[in-house]
Amino acid sequence: MKKNILNAPFIVEMCRATANMYRLGWDERNGGNISMLLEETEVAEYLDMNYVLRTIPTGFDATPLIGRIILVTGTGKYFKNIEIDPENNLGIIRIAKDGTTAELLWGWDDEGRFTSELPAHLMSHISRLAADDKHRVVMHSHPTYTIAMNAVCPIDEKEFTHRLWQSNTESIVVFPDGVGVLPCMVCGTTAIGEATAEKMKSFRLVVWTNHGIYGAGRDMDEVFGLIETVEKTAQIYMLTLGHTQNVISDEILHGLAERFGVTPLEGVLK
Ligand code: 13P
Ligand code: ZN
Repeated sequence: MKKNILNAPFIVEMCRATANMYRLGWDERNGGNISMLLEETEVAEYLDMNYVLRTIPTGFDATPLIGRIILVTGTGKYFKNIEIDPENNLGIIRIAKDGTTAELLWGWDDEGRFTSELPAHLMSHISRLAADDKHRVVMHSHPTYTIAMNAVCPIDEKEFTHRLWQSNTESIVVFPDGVGVLPCMVCGTTAIGEATAEKMKSFRLVVWTNHGIYGAGRDMDEVFGLIETVEKTAQIYMLTLGHTQNVISDEILHGLAERFGVTPLEGVLK
């Protein structure tokens, strides 16, 4: 007898995270998407792993993820609705042996499909797994102040990282590895997926100019916390823009890094 998947910790976590993100105003309408790598053993408690509901071509090659199982938000689905109807708004897919097909194991009971940003998600998972074998979650969101700050800063990831670090003492501690920045690109494409994944080789955070942000990490809390800290700092930056009297000096930033035992991204601090 299989257990009820609606009680599975990974579904509950996904519902909570997306509801929080909606209420924080980060994810309007269908904005944002999340994907989480699952272990076969944790999913098998709830689903017959041999039963494929349908197959959906992905349109790109994700060979390094063959056999991997992924919980992912659906395209066009509203974060606000996920907690009230997870089965319609989420899906669990497995990457088939050809590397280009998703096998639907659960979800999207209205014939829906995975987020249009699946290339960026899967390619980012590949990059992050190469950097950290405990990596599991990729989160994309549209937090207001992050997008606003990006709009008033040059497209220069070291400069952007420096301004964030200078605005809030938490920033260098939470993301000493900095924030990557991509120029504005057409979203939902393999090209933006590849560009994001390239940045994800060294960053856990990547801003998409005039669009939003990607975060990656070992669990939902880590990724949520990364994006939350960028957004809070971007809010401070925007609220003070044009009136700023005090920014954190490089000397203090070096001191914070030393105090908290983190290594700042090279080339940002003097
Ligand atoms: P989806 O509805 O396809 O997930 O797209 C939302 C989004 O944020 C696009 O970047
Ligand atoms: Zn988006």
